[in-house]
Amino acid sequence: MPRLPITKLCPGLALSTILVFASASAAPSEPTLPAPIESEVWITLGADAFATIQGERLLDSPPPRLADNSGVVLSRVRQSDLPRISGRLHEVHRRCSGFMTHPSKAVGLEALAAATRQQPFGPSPYSIDEPAAVQGVASRLSGNSILATITSLSTLFNNRYHAHPSGVAAAQWIHDLWAGYAFGRGDVTVELVTHPGVNQPSVVLTIQGVTLPDEYIVLGAHLDSIASGSSNPNFSAPGADDDASGIASLSNVIQAAMLDGFRPARTVQFMGYAAEEVGLVGSQDIANSYQSAGVDVVAAFQLDMTAYNGSAPDIGLIGDFTDPTLTSFLEDLLDTYQPSAVWNHTACGYACSDHASWNNAGYPAAFAFESLVGQHNPTIHTTSDVTATFGDTGDHALKFARLAAAFMVETAKSGDVEIFSDGFESGSTDAWSLTVP
Ligand code: BES
Ligand code: ZN
Repeated sequence: MPRLPITKLCPGLALSTILVFASASAAPSEPTLPAPIESEVWITLGADAFATIQGERLLDSPPPRLADNSGVVLSRVRQSDLPRISGRLHEVHRRCSGFMTHPSKAVGLEALAAATRQQPFGPSPYSIDEPAAVQGVASRLSGNSILATITSLSTLFNNRYHAHPSGVAAAQWIHDLWAGYAFGRGDVTVELVTHPGVNQPSVVLTIQGVTLPDEYIVLGAHLDSIASGSSNPNFSAPGADDDASGIASLSNVIQAAMLDGFRPARTVQFMGYAAEEVGLVGSQDIANSYQSAGVDVVAAFQLDMTAYNGSAPDIGLIGDFTDPTLTSFLEDLLDTYQPSAVWNHTACGYACSDHASWNNAGYPAAFAFESLVGQHNPTIHTTSDVTATFGDTGDHALKFARLAAAFMVETAKSGDVEIFSDGFESGSTDAWSLTVP
């Protein structure tokens, strides 16, 4: 799939780049030719964001709905209107910028197709057959522990903007937290991964796979935060929900996995991504380098915002820039291991988090979100994204930690039973009947 441009128009950000493709050709050099028409671009955006720019008479003429699918709309606007659209979407939806630009209608339609939910195709490579191991890890998870980590991150490091010193210190703190959980495990390493152009590193914890070490399972969240003007050192960006909650949910899974002595068959990597808020910088760097190196990532799972309980469905399964088969596997995991949790499908309408980096690098990605998009925490990207906004509780985030634990165990499988190349496990009845007459 072609790599899609990510438009960044958030005000006051050092890394903001405007990636715009004009539909009109360059200005003519011959003075006798007619004046160039105003350049137009095609944009894809969430249906809620489209309703905002259409309903408010923001532009001189209402932008057309050229195509739509699964909550994502393709439209066409004048290039000169982009800053106004971006500013308004940031005000109303707290997105920066909240849309993607495309050089032609055809490319826009392609992006729409790539971004929308499709039916799972072919047999699923994922299976659910490790209830005891899932239960072993999940029983050690704790909402209070998740809340404690969110509180630490959002108060000790209440500005985790990638260029802020405390944004760098936060990465080191997460590194040390994870290394503490892994203490005494020779098969577990924790590293800081640097990226070109930013000071903030990502944090990667690796549990070496026992039997299939070259097959990777990735679980990620972003460790940076942002608020308008947060490049100003006096402006706080606590990011309790966005995305200390995702980091804390994964931290609790690591802690539970270590306490339970979980040893995976496949290699498991937990990632705290740097600089997501300025264009998925850390995750794109990692996913693209994995792609170049030919790393076999079997599944990548994203948690970005897990603490705010904003809609009737507990869990929104993001259907754009994700793999339909892997997303359908999340449905099965929820139905099996958390039957009381209500889930439904939802979509961002643009490459809204790090799952898109894996998806765009050609890997199966899935993203479980705190609510339906549009009913999520309204305080994100402000100084008010604090734990009080979600009632000072880790209860909602715990559902995501449980899902992440089930995802880790069922995709990586337990490594203390050998998986033969024919798919049989050494401990299973089928394999037993092959070896014992
Ligand atoms: N957590 C948000 C993504 C999000 C926000 C998903 C609201 C669903 C609803 C993420 O951290 C973020 O802010 N992403 C940016 C885009 C990114 C490419 C810079 C955004 O949404 O503006
Ligand atoms: Zn954000």
